[in-house]
Amino acid sequence: MSQALESKPKLIHLASNELDRIMGGIPVSSMNLLEGENDTGKSVLAQDIVWGALQSGFTVRYITSEMTAPALVSQMESLSWDVGPSYIRGDLRITALHVKGLNWDEGMARYFLTVISNFIKNKGSADVIIFDSLTYFATKSSPEDLLNFLSNLRNYVDERKSTVVVTVHPFAFDGNQLIRIRSICDGHILMKIKTLPSSEIVRSLEILKLRGASKASDNSATFKVVPDMGIKVLPYTAVKA
Ligand SMILES: Nc1ncnc2c1ncn2[C@@H]1O[C@H](COP(=O)(O)OP(=O)(O)OP(=O)(O)O)[C@@H](O)[C@H]1O
Ligand SMILES: [Mg+2]
Repeated sequence: MSQALESKPKLIHLASNELDRIMGGIPVSSMNLLEGENDTGKSVLAQDIVWGALQSGFTVRYITSEMTAPALVSQMESLSWDVGPSYIRGDLRITALHVKGLNWDEGMARYFLTVISNFIKNKGSADVIIFDSLTYFATKSSPEDLLNFLSNLRNYVDERKSTVVVTVHPFAFDGNQLIRIRSICDGHILMKIKTLPSSEIVRSLEILKLRGASKASDNSATFKVVPDMGIKVLPYTAVKA
């Protein structure tokens, strides 16, 4: 473990206090999977973790296949997480992968995964690595190459005591592959869109696995994404009403 990391906390607290209380934080040196279909809140939850990590002095590498670096900074700012200064200081490092429109085949996907893997281990290293999302690469690569990539990431977490968060859309995987991916990870959170009896559309997350979290008081939460605020957990009564 690096000297700098030794003096840092053992848990990453989420930006949302309510969610942090429910989940008990994200353990340092863990590999975590955020799984959910489109629009279920994977990126917002990943960004909540990023802001919590930055507030505790961790460095963060956010690898995104979904947006440009300025778009990610503005997206986080629109949720009250003022990451501009961290980005300028270099505590938040953003790698935007412009992958759409390339002429993909299995070989190209293998090449990309190898490059990303080496990048994370070397120049791209940080206390916290977010990979949002893996789906695009998963649909282009062979199951063996993908598992190989995740095993490499797993070794990186164990060797460097880094914390990794990977987002995936389950539709892109066959059942067996998902089971294997989940089993490589220490943490597994399943996110869904839900309609309340009042017909309001909200989002839910279910903690299926979270090794080493301090005191998860519950294993699920229902939340809304609120502009200028971030994740707002709904009280149980509001969800039932
Ligand atoms: N700044 C914001 N203000 C209000 N709502 C927001 C804001 N940012 C995101 N949202 C909402 O949060 C919800 C979840 O978005 P998010 O991008 O996290 O989903 P996702 O699971 O990552 O989707 P995808 O699979 O398409 O990447 C969306 O409905 C989105 O409109
Ligand atoms: Mg997303």
